[in-house]
Amino acid sequence: MTETNFMFENRPNDIPSTELEVEGTVPAALRGRFLANGPGRMQIDGQKLHVFDAYGRILSAQFEDGRVTLVGRHVQTPLLEQELAKDAVVKRRLFANKPSRWSNLFDLDLGNSCMHNVYPFAGRVLAAQDPGHFILDPESLAVTGRLDCSGLMKKGMSATPMPRVDPASNRLVLWLQKPGPKDTVTMVELDETLEVAHQQTCKLPPGLLHDVTFTENFYVVSRFGALNVLKVLWGAAPVFSAIQFNEKTPVLHLIPRQGGKPRTVPLPKRMHFHFFNAFEEDGSVVVDTIGYPGQVTFSSLFPDGERERVGLPRTETPVPEVVRYRISLETLHVEERVMPGIACEAPEVNRAVRGRPYRYGYASARTDKDVTIDPGAYVWFGGVGKLDFEQNEAEVWEAPAGSSCSPPAFVPDPERSGEDAGFLLSWIQDPEEGRSSLAVFDAQDLERGPVARAQVPELLGLISHTSFAPAE
Ligand SMILES: [Fe+2]
Repeated sequence: MTETNFMFENRPNDIPSTELEVEGTVPAALRGRFLANGPGRMQIDGQKLHVFDAYGRILSAQFEDGRVTLVGRHVQTPLLEQELAKDAVVKRRLFANKPSRWSNLFDLDLGNSCMHNVYPFAGRVLAAQDPGHFILDPESLAVTGRLDCSGLMKKGMSATPMPRVDPASNRLVLWLQKPGPKDTVTMVELDETLEVAHQQTCKLPPGLLHDVTFTENFYVVSRFGALNVLKVLWGAAPVFSAIQFNEKTPVLHLIPRQGGKPRTVPLPKRMHFHFFNAFEEDGSVVVDTIGYPGQVTFSSLFPDGERERVGLPRTETPVPEVVRYRISLETLHVEERVMPGIACEAPEVNRAVRGRPYRYGYASARTDKDVTIDPGAYVWFGGVGKLDFEQNEAEVWEAPAGSSCSPPAFVPDPERSGEDAGFLLSWIQDPEEGRSSLAVFDAQDLERGPVARAQVPELLGLISHTSFAPAE
């Protein structure tokens, strides 16, 4: 299916600063940078990489006085520099082994291609993947350092690639994980100097974690998988093939923010990577998530022939559900509620409502018109969704058939009041026309479609996560 091949095209170029042609009118209140991370360079020495193993390229679209200027730059990680210098894959990754079979034996030191996420914090821009975060210069996107969390982040540890700023404290909340028979998880809150202002360490049952969210009194972390460590150490197949998922796997960890024993809550059998938000209400913790009713293997995201070459099976991604879990703090009993009529991924909320009762979420949403090789895989979703958790209903704006919409970022409009008073930004890829556009929506009138579009005369490819850095 040629319409989907653009996801796998190699984009080794950076993008020099370019003012984009704008259709419509960019709202004057929109000032700052729309950031995106996704794979750019997708092969080395002819070896095509799984899209989640490819080298991260940051896109930064600056909005100023109604004009939009785009710059794109690969994250200059040690991995990229080392592999370009040797023109070879030198580190094992999640979906790819090193070419020499036995060099993977006992190798748990995975390379960091830093393609997952990008976020602003305290006037900086940071690019993130589990093995570590890189601090970037906001203008040039050059790497200026690593996030070391006051020395707590050490080799062999993971950090959530999805940290969130708590609007109550303006601190960046994240977890650091050291694997073991029980995982050692340290919750940290960073202040605007990127130093640790609060930390606490706990032991959790071993497992794979991704996102983090919080309420007033709890950090909330979800286990989406377990790792067969012996299979990883044996090294015959890529690490992702050693991920195990069964009815006992999905749990939520509620970790008291001021110390105390974490509570581990079994969830129904869904694979959860991302949270919309969480809050406390009437003696319960309410957590809004995206859950896949089965195991997600990302096997459709191997470029042509690579999955077969490594001998891995192709499994379809189950279509994701939006699920609200309400967990009684007294009994840990879990009630669930699925939102009808929407399948979506890469959720977003107004940052001001994080950790507190709220109404609206936003996400990249599936449509019936999607042209896809894997209907549950969000990278081909062709819509932008707005979800109303109060009414338990959603609306979706659909791009033309064959297009895909990146995860949206929500930008509050300082001239209006209301939780959804603001703009939604999404990169729309149009493979038929061979171009991309940055669409600006009024979040209170999604149905109207984009109020402005900034055009890029090339396809930018898969976008993993986005965020918005307001102008200072
Ligand atoms: Fe993520």
